[in-house]
Amino acid sequence: MSGLLKYLKRIWLLNFFRRLYLASRTYNYRYVQILRWGLRSREDTNFTYHLTPLNISYLASLLAVALKTDFAVIAAYVDEALNDRDLQEHILRETQKSPLGRFADREVRLGRRLGWYVCVRVLKPRLVVETGVDKGLGSVLLCSALLKNRAEGFSGHYIGTDINPAAGYLLSGPYGEVGEVRYGDSIESLKKLDGPVDLFINDSDHSSGYEYQEYQVIRSKLSEKSVLLGDNSDVSEALFRFSREEQRQFLYFQEKPAGHWYPGAGIGISFVER
Ligand SMILES: C[S@@+](CC[C@H](N)C(=O)[O-])C[C@H]1O[C@@H](n2cnc3c(N)ncnc32)[C@H](O)[C@@H]1O
Repeated sequence: MSGLLKYLKRIWLLNFFRRLYLASRTYNYRYVQILRWGLRSREDTNFTYHLTPLNISYLASLLAVALKTDFAVIAAYVDEALNDRDLQEHILRETQKSPLGRFADREVRLGRRLGWYVCVRVLKPRLVVETGVDKGLGSVLLCSALLKNRAEGFSGHYIGTDINPAAGYLLSGPYGEVGEVRYGDSIESLKKLDGPVDLFINDSDHSSGYEYQEYQVIRSKLSEKSVLLGDNSDVSEALFRFSREEQRQFLYFQEKPAGHWYPGAGIGISFVER
């Protein structure tokens, strides 16, 4: 360290600004991302993005442990989802047809839903439930996995729930053959649902109280080897708490979006030892 820097660091005010500059350098690139996103995207909620390649590898590695499946098998399912051209074309086409379609982004970005897809491909669930459908990006991806399972001789069905009667417009065509959306409050829909549920995904009302209530309602309808995915686990301990109470294992995956300002959400994974 030069003598001058040593001297300047002793002056509190100068060192204060130098330290603020050091810290802000870690975040300043975000403003460039925000500006680029502001100009290129029209999204204002339920943001979509790609994950970094390293983040996808970590997701695959974590799922290999949770689902007790070879990493290579998981990685192949990730590639399968990323390279499904029919699915991408379907999503882009249905998006364009939707009421605000001409303002929508023309790129399919799956983010953490890749992990949801892998769970369906590995577990071959008979019933998948997702609370909170929105446009239906998760729905159509999950149903694409169910169709792949069906082609391999494993039948399965998807039920999504949403309070918004306009939700789920992406779930159509061949994907609609294996799935449906039930409209109304999620808790009420779950109460009426017949199990057993093999894969449950919570992504509706993101208050932790509501999320915990969903787990309470679905508890008696879960199959013996069920897996639960929490889309709220980055900010809510509901799935972790439920897992402790029910003697289930819990792991958490943190997303790292590629080139997007959003810091990423995550996937809470609750499972029983198989
Ligand atoms: C984050 S979005 C779901 C995103 C979707 N899972 C996906 O993959 O893109 C949350 C959805 O939950 C729905 N929602 C909010 N509160 C709800 C409730 N009490 N019951 C059912 N759906 C609810 C909203 O209408 C919204 O469509």
